[in-house]
Amino acid sequence: MKRIKVNLDKQSATSYEICIGHNILDRIGLVIAKSNLARHYIVITDSNVSSLYREELLTALKNVNLNVDLIEFPAGEISKNTDTVLTIIKKLINLGADRNSALIALGGGVTGDMTGFIASIYMRSIPYIQIPTTLMAQVDSSIGGKTGIDLPEGKNLLGAFFQPKSVFIDLQFLKTLPDEEFKNGLSEIVKYGIIDDMELFNILERETENIKNRSMDLLELMVERSCKIKRGIVEIDEMDMGVRRILNFGHTIGHAIEAESGYMIPHGNAVSIGMIASARISEKLNYLSSEDRNRIEHLIRSIDLPDHVPTSISMEGMLSKIRTDKKKKGDSVHFVLLKKIGVPFINGSVKEAIIRETIEELRK
Ligand code: NAD
Ligand code: GLY
Repeated sequence: MKRIKVNLDKQSATSYEICIGHNILDRIGLVIAKSNLARHYIVITDSNVSSLYREELLTALKNVNLNVDLIEFPAGEISKNTDTVLTIIKKLINLGADRNSALIALGGGVTGDMTGFIASIYMRSIPYIQIPTTLMAQVDSSIGGKTGIDLPEGKNLLGAFFQPKSVFIDLQFLKTLPDEEFKNGLSEIVKYGIIDDMELFNILERETENIKNRSMDLLELMVERSCKIKRGIVEIDEMDMGVRRILNFGHTIGHAIEAESGYMIPHGNAVSIGMIASARISEKLNYLSSEDRNRIEHLIRSIDLPDHVPTSISMEGMLSKIRTDKKKKGDSVHFVLLKKIGVPFINGSVKEAIIRETIEELRK
């Protein structure tokens, strides 16, 4: 198992390790048992992941004599809400979970975000562990301590920064991941290449076919590099007050597309269109060369991620979503733009006319 340390505050107990490996469920059991984190562990997982992996994980944990229970909820973003949180909390009470208990999130970002949030509020907080099973969760959501749930008014409106005690990434989980979910995660890896790692970008360009075929060696390399990039950013800005915002490259327009499609366009697809739009805006404002902008568009297309905004999505609707974002954050939309591949910066004064012109170009 490879280990990556996340150093958040040298005096506090919030630092933790990300462990990455293949077929490591037995090892995970041993590491958790040795950590003495709790006397009672409760695995929280969704219905899909439960049917695939519940037996394997429970066996690994029981083999090292851990006291374990499991709570399952229906899979999907639709479950990431207050009703599911309260249902899970009532089940925790019935299982006798107390401040000597710890939660284990086994699943994608929905499971991880919601489990982390429950851990942050249950009995004024108990520890939790992340075992991410989607590519998105392995490279992004399980790291950095952003937890939360959705409200009818919008996504992730209720939440807390609450770091896990450890993150265990078993690459074997990716073998059962549906193609659409795999692409969601790839989009975030492309983002890391664009904002921070020219070498990762080169690998993505060179190895496109092997990546699409889920070569385990390449996945390991990409997951490890992505985790290190996110670790580096979170260590500098845990609370998302500055540099962490560069992780939102492609997300301003991406979120508007996702929301305006009624969440029918998956997050990774929306972000890939948003990344093309942000690269074009960077070129129009004379920050980015046309050569770099072309490379970004070519990579996104060759990896089979979408490159255009469907005409069914209302332009005015998207612009209004972007304006709402602006109201939430002060008077300007914080666009992440590029000076070149690997060199992002935050620009608070992108004019709406340029956003409109760019989205118009990308509509087909
Ligand atoms: P998800 O958790 O809904 O998982 C996607 C689907 O894949 C689900 O149907 C799930 O049951 C299934 N699945 C999971 N692992 C599987 C496996 N190994 N094999 C087969 N099927 C599997 O979605 P996601 O894309 O993982 O995460 C999206 C969520 O993450 C969103 O709610 C988003 O807001 C959140 N997010 C959070 C952060 C953060 O920093 N906290 C960052 C990015 C995204
Ligand atoms: N996914 C963005 C962040 O963690 O800040």
